[in-house]
Amino acid sequence: MSSHASSELLDAPITDTDFAAGVEAVEAMRVRARPIPRITIQVFCEFAETAAAMQSAVEDRRLAKTHVNIQMGGIQAAVAHFADNPTPNLIIVESSLDRGGMLTELDRLAETCDAGTKVIVVGHLNDVVLYRELLKRGVSEYLVAPVSPLQLMESISNLYTDPETDPIGQVIAFIGAKGGVGSSTICHNVAWTMSEQLKADVVIADLDLAFGTAGLDFNQDPVQGIAEALATPERLDEVLLERLLTKCSDYLSIFAAPAVLDRDYDVSPDSCDIVLDVVRQNVPYAAVDLPHMWTNWTKRILLSADEVVITAVPDLANLRNAKNLLDLLRQHRHHDGPPHLVLNMVNLPRRPEISVKEFCQNLDLKPAAIIEFDAENFGQAANNGQMIEELNKKAKAVQPLRELAMALTHRKDLAQRQQKSPLAPLLEKLKLKR
Ligand SMILES: Nc1ncnc2c1ncn2[C@@H]1O[C@H](COP(=O)(O)OP(=O)(O)OP(=O)(O)O)[C@@H](O)[C@H]1O
Ligand SMILES: [Mg+2]
Repeated sequence: MSSHASSELLDAPITDTDFAAGVEAVEAMRVRARPIPRITIQVFCEFAETAAAMQSAVEDRRLAKTHVNIQMGGIQAAVAHFADNPTPNLIIVESSLDRGGMLTELDRLAETCDAGTKVIVVGHLNDVVLYRELLKRGVSEYLVAPVSPLQLMESISNLYTDPETDPIGQVIAFIGAKGGVGSSTICHNVAWTMSEQLKADVVIADLDLAFGTAGLDFNQDPVQGIAEALATPERLDEVLLERLLTKCSDYLSIFAAPAVLDRDYDVSPDSCDIVLDVVRQNVPYAAVDLPHMWTNWTKRILLSADEVVITAVPDLANLRNAKNLLDLLRQHRHHDGPPHLVLNMVNLPRRPEISVKEFCQNLDLKPAAIIEFDAENFGQAANNGQMIEELNKKAKAVQPLRELAMALTHRKDLAQRQQKSPLAPLLEKLKLKR
């Protein structure tokens, strides 16, 4: 199978195991595999395929903070290693032994490990009795080989992030393929729609520190904001975050940019990481409005975000830049879907444009939204400090903005799937009979 299999849902390479699991299952795994905290992991594989899957997971953004060591030799090597080495937070061991053999080896491993260490076992038997025995012994998870990188990431993530107790928010990064293409406008409108539709907290982090417009766009006059947090990220906690946010509505707040030029802004990738981590621990959705510039920190945010939205106007420079962004993201984000492309300001009167079809063919990517040039509504909304839908529910941009908001929160796919289910008519009939 080709390494860049294009389908409606997927653009990243799919491994054979992923493929066997089905496109929808892979999409679900991508959502469930969340960033993993700063833990140490030691892996002892028996087969090169398992080591390769683990290595691929290690290179993923979700494991960027972890320290991982991969060795061969299976459980035996692990027992020998931990006889005179401290145990990490998590041990992943592979074993091709039968039930009895594996349990004996694991009992030996237990003798050399600290009680707090978690263990994931990769085995080659699909055996419920074995599974139960492992759970009894305190093993956290049993995976049957062959395992995919996403499966491994999801299992690790399940051990360290509990969706019930740890609200881990999604970070959605917005960037323009060129300056002034409407990336911030799209970001603010999509964030507003998400907060209205889902009734879930959304924070807009305006990282255009010198010129950001989030405050203006929501008709707010924030005093403090994101620059304070970035200057001393280690001080940021839930209480300080609450103070630095400006509330726009019940569910929407902005982490506003100072938008003044009387100071220098020294932003580091690490301070961005810390600040966004605090945000994602406290709110389900963070929409990050990135300025159109290429620095180590804008790159870090793009590569580590859960979703990326690239806004482009249909001309040649936008096409080249969008292609470069896309190539970079595809190269670094093997286990993620492609970024979401917004074609904005389409059909500007008298401007020669590259057609949407041609633009997208060149990128080998379907657009997530096509938004026409609409000076009246966009201009008025910007002047009033309102969102497009607040100003005019009938504006053409409302529907694509809504669809984009739902796609980014993985709601649209579900709705569509339900609509399209070939079983739907049958289910309806059954319901009627009852
Ligand atoms: N579809 C559209 N039709 C007409 N005007 C639009 C459209 N989208 C955005 N605009 C307008 O374009 C201008 C630039 O938008 P915006 O500031 O969002 O762009 P940006 O890409 O974030 O720019 P920057 O590079 O400065 O960050 C704004 O005045 C906005 O109202
Ligand atoms: Mg902007």
